[in-house]
Amino acid sequence: MISLTRRVRDLDGTRAFYREFGLAETSPGTFATRAGGEQLHLLPGTADEVAELHIGVDSTDDLRAIGAALEAQDVPVERADGTIRAVEPVSGVAVRLSVADRLPADPAPSAPDRVERTELVRRGPVEPLRLGHVAIGCTDVERAKAFFLDGVGMRLSDYVIGGPFMRFETDHHNVVLLPAPMTLLHHTAWKVRDVDEVGYGGSRMIERHPERHAWGLGRHGASANYFWYLKDPAGAFAEYYHSDMDALADGPLFWDPAPGTGDLPVAVWASPALEERPLVPEAMRPPILSADR
Ligand SMILES: [Fe+2]
Repeated sequence: MISLTRRVRDLDGTRAFYREFGLAETSPGTFATRAGGEQLHLLPGTADEVAELHIGVDSTDDLRAIGAALEAQDVPVERADGTIRAVEPVSGVAVRLSVADRLPADPAPSAPDRVERTELVRRGPVEPLRLGHVAIGCTDVERAKAFFLDGVGMRLSDYVIGGPFMRFETDHHNVVLLPAPMTLLHHTAWKVRDVDEVGYGGSRMIERHPERHAWGLGRHGASANYFWYLKDPAGAFAEYYHSDMDALADGPLFWDPAPGTGDLPVAVWASPALEERPLVPEAMRPPILSADR
């Protein structure tokens, strides 16, 4: 289980975006998924940034082991009742770990078992099942990955465009680090029931807001998930995704990658097919010079 707390400059606009995205706002700024509970917290801020990444673990024994492993890396660890907190030193991202239940298995995808197929005709937003992964840009992903792999005990699933994709469940990835000139939240990814919901959700979000469109519909190489990325009002992307490969990620045949061995394309197909750098956050784009300079 993973959840994220963000500080954002445009709190009202970002709240409205995630309500429309299909998350349930249980109290102002707190958003729940259908199966994962409260997985997004938005706080007012003077900058758009990650305030805290929360990772659930199975037991207090796990917490003790993680605390010791982080301290072995000379990372200071704060301990409170049933919680430990540490700051990943490269990105400066605060990570909190506590004992949490594992999420229930995902409901079955909609299947064409009736002639009328009425479940395809929707009126409201899709309701994402859970937050699947968080992708964070940082200046040195190779140093930062040690915190998550050797400290938290995650496993490495893949490398794509120089970034380690790491997991702690049967999902292909739960935390992704992407090379970037500064620390930033690149995207959050919200699992929906099937590719139909990816397409329906994405097209519904851009219907009256074409400026939200970032990239999709497409299918990634790593993890083979279908995707559609939208721009949120706080400088990050929000991804609807569905993968029918995730349950394989803990199988005995899952490979152990090393940097430079992942030659998978970011997308095996997508619309548009090869848009140049489609997922560059605003914070990484060069400023536009004003005409009167
Ligand atoms: Fe993603």
